[in-house]
Amino acid sequence: MTRRRRVYEGKAKVLFEGPEPGTLVQYFKDDATAFNGEKKATVTGKGVLNNRISEHLMLKLAEIGIQNHFIRRLNMREQLIKEVEIIPVEVIIRNIAAGSICKRLGISEGTPLPRPIIEYCFKSDELNDPLVSEEHITAFGWANPLELDDIMSQSLRVNDFLLGLFSGIGIRLVDFKLEFGRYYEGDEMQIILADEISPDNCRLWDAATNKKLDKDRFRRDLGGVEDAYQEVARRLGIIPEGGPGDLQGTNAIQ
Ligand SMILES: Nc1ncnc2c1ncn2[C@@H]1O[C@H](COP(=O)(O)OP(=O)(O)OP(=O)(O)O)[C@@H](O)[C@H]1O
Ligand SMILES: [Mg+2]
Repeated sequence: MTRRRRVYEGKAKVLFEGPEPGTLVQYFKDDATAFNGEKKATVTGKGVLNNRISEHLMLKLAEIGIQNHFIRRLNMREQLIKEVEIIPVEVIIRNIAAGSICKRLGISEGTPLPRPIIEYCFKSDELNDPLVSEEHITAFGWANPLELDDIMSQSLRVNDFLLGLFSGIGIRLVDFKLEFGRYYEGDEMQIILADEISPDNCRLWDAATNKKLDKDRFRRDLGGVEDAYQEVARRLGIIPEGGPGDLQGTNAIQ
């Protein structure tokens, strides 16, 4: 294996320098963290599943014209992506109340929201990713008003599309988090979708039973984390009924 320069190591992924300028390799780890890194564990196979699930969803989104960073999958745990300048804002799109909005606004989990609600958090581990408003984003220059409009309309389109896609496989898309970045090509700059879309950053409930098929299984010690992620991948049609085979892998996965 050739050594590559490690550009960044986060909680769930590692970024390496890509083979061509302007590209990165995104490596998906099995590490699971919650509550801003306070709770940590390894979920065997999670990285392999998230790599596949994110690939699948990014490709589908590209088909409907949502530009994103995904170029191609390289192996079980790695994908080639376009390097972007990440906008330091997490975009949360909520369809059904769950998680922090329940505590903040005193709404019980599972309450359908009157319409999709977008929230923004400033990406800062030290500050615990605080909720911010559009005012903060534009006043502090994290994104300008035009960029923010673009981010908002892309996020709503992603939501519309994913709501339909998941409902077709018996899953309710409760909420999810997106990250966007500036992609420079020649003199042009475009805001494109980056990071990942996977059960690590979506709340997905089985439509018939409301069983959680996402990272809340880890956050709340519900068990069966890997099985839930596998179930999502299986319903999306990206792994065979029997599962993806050797999830831990060794050489093939690095
Ligand atoms: N196309 C891209 N170009 C550059 N950076 C990216 C791209 N896609 C995602 N990233 C960044 O790569 C990192 C992925 O690592 P990971 O998700 O493990 O981070 P994290 O622990 O969630 O921490 P944080 O997001 O706060 O940095 C994130 O910082 C994310 O913003
Ligand atoms: Mg992350």
